[in-house]
Amino acid sequence: MFSTLLWLEEVSSTQDFLKEKSLPLWSVVVANRQTRGRGRLGRQWHSQEGGLYFSFSMPQGIKDENTLPLVLSNAVADYLKSLGFIPAIKWVNDVYVQGKKLCGILTERLKDKIIVGIGINLNQESFPKDIDAISLRKIKGEIYDKAGFLLNLLDYLGKAIEKLSQKGFCAFKEDIEQRLLFKDSEVILYTPKPVVGILQGIDTDGSLLLLTQEGIKSFQVGEITLRAL
Ligand code: BTN
Repeated sequence: MFSTLLWLEEVSSTQDFLKEKSLPLWSVVVANRQTRGRGRLGRQWHSQEGGLYFSFSMPQGIKDENTLPLVLSNAVADYLKSLGFIPAIKWVNDVYVQGKKLCGILTERLKDKIIVGIGINLNQESFPKDIDAISLRKIKGEIYDKAGFLLNLLDYLGKAIEKLSQKGFCAFKEDIEQRLLFKDSEVILYTPKPVVGILQGIDTDGSLLLLTQEGIKSFQVGEITLRAL
């Protein structure tokens, strides 16, 4: 499925690189460092040496395309599980391990394709104080082979995309719900207007289901945090 693989020492953002260059669909661009790594909602993605930062392009129009962030998070979680970790998915595009962020996924829809960007904290020894993140190295005390990790992960991602395009989101819903961070807990969803509710699960279209004072409501966008007692 994936075609060209381009490995760069440093780039502003693998996401922007893929947007600017006309590489064939399913190209993968990796960088050891990004000087302007981007996250969702215009946030910065801290991209110092040690992490795995890559983007790939894919065609638009696959079945249940809007659920890609969740489905890809689940594929990352599947791969982490095969390595012995216990990952959780924070709706809608993050993978957490030991209660901290390990991976973030950004999907951007262009005119003619989708660009998916994935950042994984692999071998970082530490993070800036204001970032509540963890790396696989910090958990296991091992240094991971970045290329091997990437190739295996691409296999998981490719298979998940194939399954989504053939069977749709219903084939993933149960697995994702089982891994959902904060399930059955009271959360605040910033839409950006804050909505308080108990996280029930996800709907058949991947939206978040919250039990609010007005009953169960479904949300397509937003950012959740646990409501402090
Ligand atoms: C998020 O958690 O908000 C998503 C983070 C996505 C980061 C990746 S790193 C590779 C690719 N290049 C970028 O500039 N961003 C994505």
